[in-house]
Amino acid sequence: MTAQHQARPEHPSDTAGEAGPDRRTLLRGAAVVGAVGVAGVAVTACTTENQPATPHEKKLLDGPVTVGRSDDVAVGKGKVYTDTSIVVTQPAKDDYKAFDARCPHQGCLVTKVDQGVIQCQCHGSQFSMNDGSVVRRPAKRGLTPLPVTVANGEIVVG
Ligand code: FES
Repeated sequence: MTAQHQARPEHPSDTAGEAGPDRRTLLRGAAVVGAVGVAGVAVTACTTENQPATPHEKKLLDGPVTVGRSDDVAVGKGKVYTDTSIVVTQPAKDDYKAFDARCPHQGCLVTKVDQGVIQCQCHGSQFSMNDGSVVRRPAKRGLTPLPVTVANGEIVVG
C-alpha cells in the first residue's frame, strides 16, 4: 500500500492523537448547538412579534367595538375586558383611555388596574393608566393605545 492509499479510519475516535476535533469534542459541540436551538425556540414562543391578529384586533379591523358601560370604569380606576383584550381607564373625570391589554413583555393579558397603574401579574410589569407607558419592567415597551370614545354611556374602542 502506498502513502496515497492509506486506509481511512472507520471511526472518528480512531484518529485520536491527530489534529482536529475528536468524538468527545464533536458531541459537546452538538450538545451546545442543541441547547441553543431549544433556547431559541423557547424565546420565539414567548415573544409577541409577528403573531397573528387576535379576535379583538380582527374586530377592530372591522370597525369600532363597544366594550362596556362607562360607569363600569370609575374615575382613577380601570377595567380589563378579557373578551376583547382591551383595558380601559379613566385617569380623570370623563377622560377615558383604552389600550391593547396584551402585555408587550410576553403576551399575557394585563390583569387589573390598581393604585393608578395597569398591572400584569405574569412577571410584574406595570403601565401608566394615562398613556400605557412602562412604570415597572420587565416589559420594555408600553401598552398600545387605542382610540376610545364614550357615547350614550357606552365605551367604544376603535
Ligand atoms: S407577560 Fe406581562 S410581565 Fe411578563
